[in-house]
Amino acid sequence: MNHPPSSFLETLRARLPLVTVISQRVRLTRRGREYTGLCPFHSEKTPSFTVSEEKGFFYCFGCGAHGDVISFVMQADGLSFSDAVKQLSQAAGLSSRSTFYETHNNRIKIHHSCLLDVMEMATRFYERQLQLPNGRSGLEYLHKRGLNDEIIAAFRLGFAPPGNAGSTTLKREGINENLLIEGGLLIPPNKGGSPYDTFRDRVIFPITDIRGRVIAFGGRTLGTAQPKYINSVATPLFRKGEVLYGLAQARDPVREKGTVIVTEGYMDVIALAGAGFSHAVAQLGTALTAGQLAALWRLAPEPILCFDGDTAGRLARARTAQRILSLLKPGLSVRLALLPEEKDPDTLIRTEGASAMAGVLSRATPLFEEVWQTLLKDHPLDTPEQLAALEQAINSLTSKIVNLTVRQYYYRLLHERRRALLRRMARGLGQYKKHVTLSGSEPQMKAMANRVFTAFLLTHPQVLMCHIEQVAELLAGNTALAHLIEIAATVLAERPDIDGASLVSILKRDCHESAIKWLERDLDSALQRQGQDPEGDYQRMLLALHDQALTREIELMQTMLTTDPSPEIWQRLQLLQQERYQLHVERKEFAHYEEVKYN
Ligand code: CTP
Ligand code: MN
Repeated sequence: MNHPPSSFLETLRARLPLVTVISQRVRLTRRGREYTGLCPFHSEKTPSFTVSEEKGFFYCFGCGAHGDVISFVMQADGLSFSDAVKQLSQAAGLSSRSTFYETHNNRIKIHHSCLLDVMEMATRFYERQLQLPNGRSGLEYLHKRGLNDEIIAAFRLGFAPPGNAGSTTLKREGINENLLIEGGLLIPPNKGGSPYDTFRDRVIFPITDIRGRVIAFGGRTLGTAQPKYINSVATPLFRKGEVLYGLAQARDPVREKGTVIVTEGYMDVIALAGAGFSHAVAQLGTALTAGQLAALWRLAPEPILCFDGDTAGRLARARTAQRILSLLKPGLSVRLALLPEEKDPDTLIRTEGASAMAGVLSRATPLFEEVWQTLLKDHPLDTPEQLAALEQAINSLTSKIVNLTVRQYYYRLLHERRRALLRRMARGLGQYKKHVTLSGSEPQMKAMANRVFTAFLLTHPQVLMCHIEQVAELLAGNTALAHLIEIAATVLAERPDIDGASLVSILKRDCHESAIKWLERDLDSALQRQGQDPEGDYQRMLLALHDQALTREIELMQTMLTTDPSPEIWQRLQLLQQERYQLHVERKEFAHYEEVKYN
């Protein structure tokens, strides 16, 4: 049951004396300080029912019934608590509980608007100071950081002079000290003494709500004084975890661009706006909160979160990604952007210009990709145990997603990717790699079959052309090979008639040495062994590769069966063996066909 606040009940009791209510049903006679009568809750001839106005209580010595005015109505009329309250408030002329709340709220509203007025007056004061001689140092500081007067005005930047100048002026304008303290502009001293200004000798960044009303301030020292930034304490206007700096200025640009950039600090937002990225806000030093994310999602479905390129930034990025998982909703996600080492958006724009920033934003990764990449980074995939660990990691990660629909898709898509890896791995085409690099030096990438196959393709450009899509799919898990094939494909696009020898010499000339060196011997022998039926050779190689992969998976299943003799593994093994049998039949037929053709 929803109890109204005690203050409402107090109002009710004050307006409706107990005796007045009870005497409507019971004939009461005064006896000393109390009243007595015949109990309405049991039948009796001599009165044992007593009412004490003083205590606000009734009590029956006969049947033990007791309570206050509300329980009296509940018992006498058989009403629920809230119906009794409703009936009583009507009788008291308090039309309803919600009316009471409204007047209560109004009082808060009036109080808020007082505080907002104070903040507005302070903002004007700080802005004014920046233009006066004693704000000179502040203005010079802002100019030195590359801000022009237009952007200073747009963000209403200001200057707080040293000492208590701010509060002194506001008091002179009629604001009382308590309001200044409540608004976080004045700090009450610990023991006695007089209060002192929060912001002294700092440039001021007004923090507004989404409608542009100033609710708090940030102040930066001009020099190296610590702390670098001071922010208003939490006040009735300023609930820290829910505010985003620059939201009011960014609102319209965000709607226009369809996305919002989230950075860490004041200067980042302002520098971004100066460089044409006016759809930026800052989370103000804290980790992104659920409240801030909710505010961002009200504006755009996929905010872009910027992280520093250093270790701390990478850590924050991973942690934020984890935390946001639980908050995801259908259609609502984030992208994660990584800045170069030692750079924030402000310094990146100053040193490398707006285009560098645009590049960072365009490379922002969707959360889903980030999650998958992190899983791959954290899990080596060389043994069945490690594969099992990946499977478990996917399950525990997706279980963090509260929204069931989103959870389902993450679960499905992550497992699908894991299975695709497994399939490719089983085919023997490329082992899985923790890190995607273009180096061809990893030993597992030199698997014989892949080398021979790739060398064959590169020395038979027309076959490669014919099957480029299939080849790309087959080699997708093997970056070094895929890289070579990709380069060959670009050469082929310009020179479709090129012969194998010329393609190889172009690759040797243009590719990085490490990308081609390890394949050199295979390329040379493939060039020497140019057959009569390259298409047939391709098909035979494909079958051989498939065979090899099946054999490998069969061996894996057989090993697994010795430790985990489950029906699933047994069944899988049967299927694989059957598949390999069919493949052998196919290969024989193919070999036969070859014989017929050549004999
Ligand atoms: N911050 C804060 N209090 C601090 C330090 C930082 O509130 N003592 C918040 C500020 O909102 C600041 C943001 O965290 O803008 C990022 O901090 P940091 O990267 O240290 O500062 P910058 O924004 O790079 O500040 P500047 O460029 O002015 O040196
Ligand atoms: Mn900075």
